[in-house]
Amino acid sequence: MNTRSSWGSQLGFILSAAGSAIGLANIWRFPYIVGENGGAAFVCLYLICLALIGFPVLIAEVVLGREAKSSPVGAFRQLGGSPKWSGAGRLAVLTALIVSAFYSAIAGWLVGYLFEAIGGVLSHFTSPELAEEHFVQHIGNPWWCLGGHVIFIGMCTAILYFGVRGGIERASLFLMPLLVFLLVLVAVKGLMMEGAEKGIDFLFTPNWSTLTPTAVLLALGQSFFTLSLGQGTMITYGSYLSRQDNIVKSCFPVALMDTFISLIASIAVFTIVFSVGMQPNSGPGLLFETLPVVFSFIPAGYLLSVMFFLIVLIAAVTSEISALEPIICYLIDEKLWHRKTAVSVTCLTAFVLGIPCALSHNLLQHITFGSMSILDFVSHLASSLLIPIGGFLSVIAIGWRFGLQRTFTHLAMGATQLGPLSRFYFRLTIKYTAPLLILIVFLHTIGML
Ligand code: PHE
Repeated sequence: MNTRSSWGSQLGFILSAAGSAIGLANIWRFPYIVGENGGAAFVCLYLICLALIGFPVLIAEVVLGREAKSSPVGAFRQLGGSPKWSGAGRLAVLTALIVSAFYSAIAGWLVGYLFEAIGGVLSHFTSPELAEEHFVQHIGNPWWCLGGHVIFIGMCTAILYFGVRGGIERASLFLMPLLVFLLVLVAVKGLMMEGAEKGIDFLFTPNWSTLTPTAVLLALGQSFFTLSLGQGTMITYGSYLSRQDNIVKSCFPVALMDTFISLIASIAVFTIVFSVGMQPNSGPGLLFETLPVVFSFIPAGYLLSVMFFLIVLIAAVTSEISALEPIICYLIDEKLWHRKTAVSVTCLTAFVLGIPCALSHNLLQHITFGSMSILDFVSHLASSLLIPIGGFLSVIAIGWRFGLQRTFTHLAMGATQLGPLSRFYFRLTIKYTAPLLILIVFLHTIGML
C-alpha cells in the first residue's frame, strides 16, 4: 500500500498551485483580450469575475480534495454523498487527460522556438511576413511538431517521476521565482523603451464602451481556465495539503500571483510591441509571429527572445504537470498503482492522444470540424464544455451536497473561525453566483442563450 503523498510546506502548495495557474492563458491570451476589450475596464470586469466565480470555485475544489484526501473520483464520491458522484470525478480525470494532450502539442512549439531563440534565429527577421512564413513552415512540418511534443512531455514525465514533494514541489520552488524574476526584467525593459507609454495607454485606459456581453463571457471563461479549475487539478493539489494549513490563506496568494503575472505579462508584451509601432495579434500569432519580429528590431533582442521563450516554457511545464497529476493520483488512489507505473502510463497516453493535435497543421490538416483544426476543436471542447461542467459540479457538490456549514468548519482549520462577512461571501458565491454564472456561460456557448 502506498503512503499518500503530501506537500512539504504551505509554500510548496502555494507555488505549485500558482505554477499550475500561471500558464499560456496568462501570457498569450490575457494581454490580448485586455487590449481588445476596453483595457482597464476589462481588468475591472475580470477582477469581479475572479471574485464571483474563479476564487469560490478554487476554494470549493481545494475543500473537496483536502476533506476527502483522495483523487477527484474519491473526492466527489465522498463529498457528493453517493457513489453516483464518482462519475463527476471520472469526468474531471478525462478532461485532465484531454487538456494535457492538447496543451503538450502546443507547448511543443515553444520547445522548438526556445531552441531557435538560443540559436539566434528569432532575432533576425526583416519583416512580419517572413516571421509568419517561418512559423507556418514549422507547424507544417510533422517531425518538428512531434519532436517538440515528445521533448515537452518527456520533461514533465521526468519531474512527475520524482513525486509530489521531490518533483512537483521542488520544481515549482525553483521555477516559479525564476519565472517571476525573468518576467519582471522583461517588463522593466519594456517600460524603458521609447514609445512604451502607447502600450500602457492601450492596456490601461479604461474604455467602458467596449465592454460588450462578449467581454463578460471572455472574462468569465478566462478567470476559470487560468486558475486550472474544472478538471481535477486543484482537487488533487488540495488533497496533498495538510489539515494544519488554512485553505483560504493558501489559495488567496495563488489567485493574487496569477493575476499579477497576467498584468505583468501584458505590460511586457504591449510596451515592447507598441514601441516598434506594431499591433499585437491574438493567440499563437502574438507569440510566434509578432514577438520574433519585435525581437529583431530592438536592442538586446537576442537576450530578450531567449528569456521570453524560457518564461513561457517554464509556465507551460508547471501547468502541464498539474494537468497530468489528477490522472496519476486517480490511478494511485483508486487502482492502487505504484507512482512510477502511473506516471509512465499517464504520460504515454497523453502523448499518444496529443499526436493528432501535433499533426493537425500538417499531415492531418484535411481533418476539420467546421472551420476548426483538430487542435482548435479539442481545446475548444475542453475549455468551453468540459471544464465549465467540471467547475459547476464542484460548486454543486460543495454548496448543495456537502453543505456550507461543514465547509465553514473546514475553512476555519489552521486559522480562526470565519467572520460573518466571509461566511456571507462564500455562501453567496459558492451556492449561488458561481453555479449560476457558469450555467449562463455554458448555455451561451452551446448556443441556447
Ligand atoms: N491554468 C493554465 C494556464 O493558464 C491552464 C491549465 C488548465 C493547466 C487546466 C492545468 C489545468 O495556461
